[in-house]
Order: sequence, then structure tokens, then C-alpha cells
Amino acid sequence: MLVIEKVEKMAAVSRKLRGGGKTIGFVPTMGYLHEGHLSLVGLSKAQADVTVVSIFVNPTQFGPNEDLGRYPRDAEGDLKKCKDSGVDVVFFPDAAGMYPEGYCTYVDVGRVSEGLCGASRPGHFRGVATVVAKLFNIVKPDRAFFGQKDFQQTVVIRRMVRDLNMDVEVVIGPTMREPDGLAMSSRNVYLAPAERAAATRLYAALSAAKGLYSSGERDAGRLKARVQEVLAEEPLIRPEYVEAVDNDMRTAETAGGDTVIAVAARVGSTRLIDNLPLLNG
Ligand code: PAJ
Repeated sequence: MLVIEKVEKMAAVSRKLRGGGKTIGFVPTMGYLHEGHLSLVGLSKAQADVTVVSIFVNPTQFGPNEDLGRYPRDAEGDLKKCKDSGVDVVFFPDAAGMYPEGYCTYVDVGRVSEGLCGASRPGHFRGVATVVAKLFNIVKPDRAFFGQKDFQQTVVIRRMVRDLNMDVEVVIGPTMREPDGLAMSSRNVYLAPAERAAATRLYAALSAAKGLYSSGERDAGRLKARVQEVLAEEPLIRPEYVEAVDNDMRTAETAGGDTVIAVAARVGSTRLIDNLPLLNG
């Protein structure tokens, strides 16, 4: 496994791979890897000749009062997991390499960035789109793999790729969960034991709405109200939003096969997100 820190070196390695006719699969991450990330590695390995994982805690996607400074890191553990999963190249740049002195170019994806997490985290998707565009230019993947866990992020990336004619196929992998339903996340490590127990309510609430949908309920308002009801049973949870949207981030009044119920909530001081497509989730 190759570990590359320099942007120029990564670009050169990718150029050579593509020149040699190899397809490149790419899994961008912020590290502290778990089975959610590794499931995307598995998809990439099945769909590309060479798999590149990037590990970069991207400062531009964190707000001034967010957790950039304490975002969990474990370089050694991450490299071992990558190696054990058969990753070919780990791209591990530093902030100065990605955002050198004088850096001032940003990618602003419009409407689909504005609601939900975009509303509560101003500038977040601008940072995500910018770093992903940069990583695509450096790594030059044929296919890039993103998790359903960050649903709005997948919509923003797909929109950017389409709008800017980027020559990369975006593949979305399903959300990996702990046995009790909690969506895997690097941020779960912040949860105190009581909060960790309470956090299972997010998936329970989404599942309750999905159950209602399965039994015929199509009113999005009632599905969202069911989610709020289940969340309200747990005092440690403070919901930030509960929304029903389609694959283009349009609000659904009537739920259908393409509706996704998305939730963000504080559990203690930790902000968690989760979502469930009403069909095939
Ligand atoms: P990060 O949170 O590290 O996630 C990297 C990728 O793993 C994302 O595509 C995310 O959706 C996916 N992922 C996270 N948890 C998952 C789970 N439980 N099941 C399946 N996939 C999961 O998302 C980011 O980093 C950053 O915003 C990034 C795209 C790297 C840009 O900085």
C-alpha cells in the first residue's frame, strides 16, 4: 500500500495509473475509519482496478464554533484498516498542501445546499464541494464512492458533478449501522454512555415513520410527526430538523418511493444526523 502526502505526487501517480489503462476508485474520508468507510472501500475494490482512500480533516467544511479542533484522529489505526481492507493508495495531505497561502477559490452548489444541514451549518457544503472538487482533480477517479449516511452531501456532490461536467461516476453505498441501529459515525466517539444509549432513538424514530409508510400513510406531515414523537420520548435528544425530501432535496408533501426522511439532532452536545429512504432503505 502506497501512502502519499504530497498533492503533486498523488496527481502524478494517478496520471500514470490512468495512462496505464487502470480504472481508479476513490473513497474520500476525514479518517477515524469505521465499517461505514470500509464498506465504500469494498464497493470500490469490486468496481475499479485501483482503490484510493483520502484522509483529510477538511477545515473549510467546519464552522467557527464546530469540532474541527477536536475531530477524532487515528492515523496509525486508519492506515492499518486501509491495508487490511486491500486499499492500494492512501492520500494523506496536510492543510498547507491543500490550501496553500493565497488560496481563494470555492465551489458553491446552489439550492440543494441550502436546506437541512446547509441551513444549520452555513458554509458547510461549500467546504465539502470545494475539497471534493480538488480531490477529484488530484486523484482523477473514474468512480467515487459516498455513503447514504450523509444524504444531502450525496445530492450536493451529484449536482456539482453534473453541473460542472466532471468526468467521474458517483456511486452511493448504503448506511452501515451498529447492531442496535445507530448509524456508524466518527463522531459517535463523543457520546457518553447514556447519550450513546439515547442515540439509538434516531433510527428507531426513522423506522417508525417507515413502518407507517409501509402500512399506507402517505402524508409527509404525519410521517414527520411520528419521527418527532419518538424523538420526544428521549429527553437527551434535541431535534434540529426532521424533513421529508426527494433525491433532489425538494420537500415532499406526499411521500412516495423516492422520499427520504432525514433527521439531525443534538444528543447531549454532539450533533448526529441520520436518514432513511422510505423504499429500499
Ligand atoms: P467522513 O464523515 O469521514 O465520511 C466519508 C464517507 O464515508 C462519506 O461518503 C460518508 O457518507 C461515508 N460514511 C460515513 N458514515 C457512514 C456509514 N455509517 N455508512 C456508510 N457510509 C458512511 O463525509 C465526509 O467525511 C467529508 O465530508 C468528505 C466527503 C470526505 C469531504 O471532506
